[in-house]
This record gives sequence, structure tokens and C-alpha cells, in this order.
Amino acid sequence: MQALRRLTVLTSTIRPIKQRSRAMATVAPSHFMATSGETEPVWVHTEPYSNRPKFSQLKQNTSADVCVIGSGIAGIQSAFELIKRGHTVVMLEARDAISGESDRTSGHLASALDDRYIEIAKLHGEEGAKLAADSHKWASKHVGEVSKELGIECEYRQLPGYLVSMYDRQTQGKDHDKDVKDTIKPEAKEATNSGVPSDFREGYAIKGWDGKPDQRDATVFADQATFHPTKYLVGVLKWLKEQPNFTCYTQTRVMDVKEKGIELLGIGKKTVVVSTQGGSEVECSDAIQATCVPLQKLSVVAEMEYNRTYCIAIKVPKGYVEDCLLYDTAEDYKYIRLTHCDEQNDYMIVGGCDHKVGQEETTGRFAELEKWTRERFTKAGSVDYAWSGQVFDPVDYMAFIGLNSGMKHTYIVTGDSGNGLTHGVLAGRLIADEIEGLPNDWGKLYAPSRKASLLKSAGSILAHDVQIQTQYKRFLQSDIKDIEDLQPGTGGVLNPTLKAPLAVYKDDEGGVHKFSALCPHLKGVVCWNGLEKSWDCPVHGSRFSKDGICITGPAKAGLSPVDEDGRAMQAEAIKA
Ligand SMILES: Cc1cc2nc3c(=O)[nH]c(=O)nc-3n(C[C@H](O)[C@H](O)[C@H](O)COP(=O)(O)OP(=O)(O)OC[C@H]3O[C@@H](n4cnc5c(N)ncnc54)[C@H](O)[C@@H]3O)c2cc1C
Ligand code: FES
Repeated sequence: MQALRRLTVLTSTIRPIKQRSRAMATVAPSHFMATSGETEPVWVHTEPYSNRPKFSQLKQNTSADVCVIGSGIAGIQSAFELIKRGHTVVMLEARDAISGESDRTSGHLASALDDRYIEIAKLHGEEGAKLAADSHKWASKHVGEVSKELGIECEYRQLPGYLVSMYDRQTQGKDHDKDVKDTIKPEAKEATNSGVPSDFREGYAIKGWDGKPDQRDATVFADQATFHPTKYLVGVLKWLKEQPNFTCYTQTRVMDVKEKGIELLGIGKKTVVVSTQGGSEVECSDAIQATCVPLQKLSVVAEMEYNRTYCIAIKVPKGYVEDCLLYDTAEDYKYIRLTHCDEQNDYMIVGGCDHKVGQEETTGRFAELEKWTRERFTKAGSVDYAWSGQVFDPVDYMAFIGLNSGMKHTYIVTGDSGNGLTHGVLAGRLIADEIEGLPNDWGKLYAPSRKASLLKSAGSILAHDVQIQTQYKRFLQSDIKDIEDLQPGTGGVLNPTLKAPLAVYKDDEGGVHKFSALCPHLKGVVCWNGLEKSWDCPVHGSRFSKDGICITGPAKAGLSPVDEDGRAMQAEAIKA
């Protein structure tokens, strides 16, 4: 979880360490249909966007047993479970398939959870920690089983995970020892109690860590896993496409999900109507909002923190670094893992440097990750990919998976807390069980309507709420004084009257395009993210492409254009 952070205004024009070769100019509008930012994740190195299955737009009303909204890991895995069980499924995706955070992840399939078992047990009890371990262990293994069953070559393998101190043994000895005593050793004990076999190894350092910082001593978690997420998802989606009871529509944005009819004490049956921006509807018995964050005003949306997070992929000789997952104990921790690059090299993915969406500069994050890596792994080569993404951290550490509060047939999956891949996989089984009325012990831990653990987190919710409310002070700010000051390919918020802030984008040729800077969700004032060329809302993390297209909820619609150039730019992006 992130500490509350200082608000800083974003107006900069930041470039990643190494750009895509074609990217000195702003990318084409279609890029934001394929992925949620201007930078490219390492996964496209071996799985380009062109390999992803293609689908058409929904242009007429249709029906199915279940409508799955969103084609990330949660949507695809839910569809997979339901299709296997004989249901008919219609999947709706606002942009191209797999264009959300599942495409920008770092690919750990961990049961050693980011928020740590010592903290989870405090809020959810020993029983809750055991259920968390059981569900993530199942999910991590299940990806291996599915990839084997469908013959998907996705680098799936099991490997150890290591938790090391953020402090140097030599120069920060006292802090290091305290960290070992208070966190690293107790986590080994609590993880083992919860069902993730772990042990503390004094003096352990992974192979390849040949640089100066001495962070030896580690808790080792057995049976963690990793894979190439996009290869896996493309493989499952290709299999789904061949199934007669599956249909998918892309470029089909969902605007509303309503339950109709009366269902009381087991009498009567509601139906769910899913309405799209184009006007077509899907009528279904159940709907699953697998949109990363649900398309609604508040409820669970207010019980999460929204963070940007950064990754680099740096070349290392094959065999130089131990194939493992490694995390340090910092609050916005650093982590590593490996993926295939070529015959001689692997890519080491190094991640971290999180901060609240729209509340801090994006500059310097990749440089920090690179410095951290080079200090520890002296044979690291070039940084070939550098990208950012978004994570959603529930205040009580557990994702929200199950029936949405107050609904009978509308399910949500959200709150990845850095373990969104395994959350997405376990959501597939849990929601399929709940739709079929089958018992599933995990249900109570993840129930979106849970109260006890959230009550224990009331202090954090309150602090978070206060912090959110302060974001509205952006109404009284103007990030730029004059449009002339904007460099080509950048944007900024202009608020001359302190009443109607404008999101102004200047294209590479100097053309100016204006949109309302008010987020359609709850009227936060967006900020310019110079790294990803997006407009990010600091209130609940909604994001919009430079053209104002919604790329991350909870907003459903895009930013409203306020001039002809803005309208033309947005129309071109929607058409792309
Ligand atoms: C840098 C980074 C590293 C990470 N590392 C890890 C890791 O190592 N391990 C791990 O477990 N997790 C990790 N995570 C988290 C994990 O990647 C995500 O939680 C997970 O991929 C989310 O999957 P999802 O299916 O819920 O959402 P997404 O993949 O975002 O999919 C949601 C889909 O819904 C679509 N959509 C949204 N709104 C609408 C609408 N109105 N109508 C129709 N469709 C809509 C979107 O376009 C998108 O395609 C990481 C995340 C990031 C950003
Ligand atoms: S995301 Fe809620 S106001 Fe913008």
C-alpha cells in the first residue's frame, strides 16, 4: 500500500529511457485501442499486437447466459470457466482484445502475496490468510494446467520467490536487522502457517546479484510461478474463439448494466441488460464486470487506492541471474523476474516506483529502476523496454470478487493489489461457482459486500477519503498559463476562469485540440501524464488517451471535446 503523498502538478514531457524505434513522433490514434499507454510493454517483443485475435463490433441486440465485460485476464479466465461448464458467453470489449493492464503487467503468478501474510492475518484472521493462500496457489497452478491442456507455449514455469530487506547489511545494519526481525522472518512463519511453504535463509543472495548493495538474508517461498501473460491470454482467447458457445465483440463500449424484473425469496427471475455506447444491448442471466475497476460511482471504488507503477526490461546474459521472483520490503517495493529475449539473453523485468495516479511527476522512475538494477547486477545490458501501468489497492488488501453490492446477477472483479493476475484466474472459478450456486469457501474472503475487514481499515478509508477530497482543489489551479507554452506532442490543463478547466493537447504539427478537463466519473480535474500521453484523474484513477478516449474506468465515457479540432481528433481515434 502507498503512503499518502504530496500533490504535484504534471505538465512535463517525459520520454522513456529507450523509445520504440518508431516513436519519436506521437503514436497513431489506434495505439490506444491496442494498449493503455504510449510506451510498449516487453511482452510485444515476442507477441506483437498483430497476433491478437480479431473480432467485430456489436451492431445488433443479442443474448447469452452470461455477458463478460472486458477482455483482460479476469474476463478471459471467467469466459474459459463458463464455456467449459457449458454456458453461452458473450464478451464485450471497449477497445481491442487484451488492451488493458493484463497487457502491461510484469507476469508474477505468486501466492507470496504483495501485502504479506502478516498484514493479511491481522485484518482477515488466520482463516482469511489460509483462504487467500489456497486461492492464489490454485490460480498459480491452474495457469500451468490450462496452458498444458490447450498447448499454449507461454514460458510457464514454477520457481522460488524471495523477500529481501530494502536495507543494506553493511551501511544500514540496524535497519536491516530490524527488518529481518519484524518482517522477513515473521513473514516466513505466517506464510507457512497460511499454507505457502516458506523458510528464512540467513545470508542468502540470489545468483547474479554481484553488485555492491548487500541485502542478503531472505525468506524463500516455494512453488511460485511466472509466464508470458500475453502469450497465455492470446492462446486462451484463440481457443475460446473456436468454441460454438462463445462470441466476442470488440470496439464495443459498455455504458450501463441493469437488472430488470422481480426476484424475491426465490420466486421470479431478474434478467440483466447490458447496454453499449452504439445502442445495442445484450440480454443475459448474469453479467460479469471484468473491467479492472467497475463502471460505477462509488462503493468499492472508494475503498481502493489507485497507483501508477513502472517497469523496465533490461538485457542480461542467459544463466547469469537465478530464475526467480524477488521483492524487497520497501513500501513501493522493487521486484525482478526474467523473460526470454533471444538465444543469448533474457530480459530482466524490474518494477516498482509506484505513486498515486495523477498526483506525482512521472519523470525519473525508469532512471531509478535502471540505477537500482545496475548497482546490483553489474552485467546488465541495455534497457530495451520501459513502460508504466496501473494497480488498484483495496484498503483491506483483498480483491473484490463476487456479486456487486445490492445486485443479484451482476458480478465484479477488481482490486488487484499487485496480484491481479492470480486474482483474475481465481475470479473465473469463484464467479462460475457462484453463478451455478455451488459452494466456494473463497467467496466470503473476496465478497464485495464484506464489512468486518473494511471496518478494521476504517482509519485508512478515512485518510484515503480526505486525500481524495483534496484532489478537488485542482478546480482552483491552472497547470499551464498559455497554450503557446505547450511543446508539440504534449498537453496541459488550462483553467483561466477557474470554472471550466480545459484539457488542451498540442499535436506534433502544433494543432491545438481542446477537451473538457472534467472527468465524467465524478468531475475530478484530470492531469497530463507526459510519459503515457494520457489524461489521468487523481480522484479515482480514470484515464483517457490524449484524444480523450476512456482507457481506464471507473469512468465509462471519454472527455468531452469542446472545439472542432478536439471533436475531429476524438472521432479519428474512435474510428481507428
Ligand atoms: C506494471 C504492472 C505490473 C503488474 N505485475 C503483476 C504481477 O506480476 N502479478 C500479478 O498478479 N499482477 C500484476 N499486476 C496486476 C495485473 O496485471 C492486473 O491486476 C490484471 O492484469 C488486471 O486484469 P483485469 O482483467 O482485471 O483488467 P484488464 O486487463 O485491465 O482488462 C480490463 C478490460 O476491460 C476493458 N473495459 C474497460 N471498460 C470497459 C467498458 N466500459 N466496456 C467494455 N470493456 C471495457 C478494458 O479495455 C480492458 O481490456 C501488474 C500490473 C501492472 C500495471
Ligand atoms: S475517476 Fe472519479 S472523478 Fe475521476
